[in-house]
Amino acid sequence: MEDKIKSYLDEINGIAISTDEQAEQFRLKYLSKKGLITSLFDEFKTIAPEQRKTIGKILNELKQAAELKLSEAKSASQPTSAVSNAQLDLSLPSDPFNLGSRHPISIIRKQMTDIFTKIGFVVSEGPEIEDDWHNFGALNFPADHPARDMQDTFFVETEGDEKWLLRTHTSSVQVRVMENQKPPIRTISPGRVYRNETISARAHCQFHQVEGLYIDEGVSFADLKQTLYYFVQEMFGDKIEIRFRPSFFPFTEPSAEMDITCLICEGKGCPVCKHSGWVEILGCGMVHPNVLDNCKIDSKVYTGFAFGMGIERIAMLKFRVNDLRLFFENDMRFLSQFKSVI
Ligand code: PHE
Repeated sequence: MEDKIKSYLDEINGIAISTDEQAEQFRLKYLSKKGLITSLFDEFKTIAPEQRKTIGKILNELKQAAELKLSEAKSASQPTSAVSNAQLDLSLPSDPFNLGSRHPISIIRKQMTDIFTKIGFVVSEGPEIEDDWHNFGALNFPADHPARDMQDTFFVETEGDEKWLLRTHTSSVQVRVMENQKPPIRTISPGRVYRNETISARAHCQFHQVEGLYIDEGVSFADLKQTLYYFVQEMFGDKIEIRFRPSFFPFTEPSAEMDITCLICEGKGCPVCKHSGWVEILGCGMVHPNVLDNCKIDSKVYTGFAFGMGIERIAMLKFRVNDLRLFFENDMRFLSQFKSVI
């Protein structure tokens, strides 16, 4: 038996395994249940006890040699890391990198400021927490005006007598400009404003405005009309028409609201424009002499116009968005639709 074991050992050492099939044949021949080594172990049970020690040792060596051979053959057939690197296709495009985009309100705000700065308006900004004077008093709001009411304005709780509030319009910024600069003044103030409104598809407790102000000698309502007509054509294209309706604001006289041709039905009439063919986009007027005087600008020498509009309103018309709340929810499914607009 000793000779048989040694000759198998030589045989195994002499075998070269290069394919998976050869490895399987090797396993079947030597190591399977019916294999030669297994049958040697059966034979081992029958040998004389005094021989067991020496034969047992070389039999175990034979089995280990066969197992080593097989495992070496198997690991040689596995692809090594060098091989798998060689199979990498480095020319493949990489995984897409998800870029963010501007918020639709930022996109429209930028377009609006670009349009006005092109004709000489300068951007001015101011605080969102305002005092009563800059938001109301200087703008000729009477003490009992309903806009000062708790229903419309968010007041900030303070210890002293002074009333602080979240600005309800960016006209407050224009008061600051008029107090600090001498005419000619040509400015727009984009920014966030707050009103105590029930949130719905058409109203929100916060939104954004761009308000404009032009003060110089001899500024007329015709200048106002032409400036706004220019803005609308730049923003929505030259097929759009405008119309003015008389209105009232404490800080302008005369005052008007401006409508533009409904973009959805092109003026034919649809549910969006309530079948009128027009949609309102802004309030405007000639700056009230009291406002100029409040800001120490001589109303006998200077005149001016002012206008104010909601950025959300313009964005809704431009992007055909029918629910104002979408601008504040930051839902990625909504925001990612504006990637191509930047
Ligand atoms: N401040 C007004 C508003 O917030 C808009 C406006 C501005 C109207 C200037 C007339 C002139 O509604």
